[in-house]
Amino acid sequence: MRLLLLAPPGAGKGTQGQALARHYGITHLSSGDLLRENITGGTAVGRQVQAYLERGDLVPDSVMDALLQTKILDAVKTGGYVLDGFPRTLRQAQRAFRGVAGQSATADTALQAVLFLDVPEEALVKRLLARGRGADDNEATIRHRLQVYHTETEPLVAYYRGRGLLRTVAGDQPVADVTQACIEAISELTG
Ligand code: AP5
Repeated sequence: MRLLLLAPPGAGKGTQGQALARHYGITHLSSGDLLRENITGGTAVGRQVQAYLERGDLVPDSVMDALLQTKILDAVKTGGYVLDGFPRTLRQAQRAFRGVAGQSATADTALQAVLFLDVPEEALVKRLLARGRGADDNEATIRHRLQVYHTETEPLVAYYRGRGLLRTVAGDQPVADVTQACIEAISELTG
């Protein structure tokens, strides 16, 4: 199974990514978690990206490509993946397609289902303020992350819908209900 969760900050990509990975026995690949692990571990990548995360800006595509491509191909070999946070821009979606062309699978052509988690904007802000995960969970940075989402990531909804790969799932219901709705949408897309 090869899935992508596409949604604004706080919509539940991480929460549903974990649940769907458990349900299908696949690998949950969270771009944000990978970046934060690098920051905590003090790696060269971590030092390069820390300021971007603190500002709520996107990290350069080249960094994301290097971080994710091999992990995606590895996950394909072990049953599949649920991608959370990547691709996040049209450029990343197109590069993911070209970058691994000729290999066993690509993040783009191999995707079987893209789920858009729909949650009202004020609920997103409330959730992220309540979570307070780190430097980017304060109100000003949350609003900036939402702006970046609208400019850079939202166009992917039309991109994947146009490819017949996307379903919208209401993300403002209890976590288990969202998971169930995702599973039903995935069955429709892959059945
Ligand atoms: P990333 O970690 O991807 O952050 P994000 O997109 O802002 O998403 P979050 O992790 O904040 O939210 P989520 O949708 O996963 O929701 P969650 O399940 O945690 O990225 C962070 C940064 O990394 C970016 O700003 C950027 O700098 C960089 N980056 C990452 N990927 C990149 C890329 N591809 N290119 C360039 N830069 C990149 O849930 C949120 C909260 O809501 C939790 O407290 C949860 O418990 C709660 N919740 C979840 N579901 C429900 C529900 N149904 N009801 C009530 N509460 C719920």
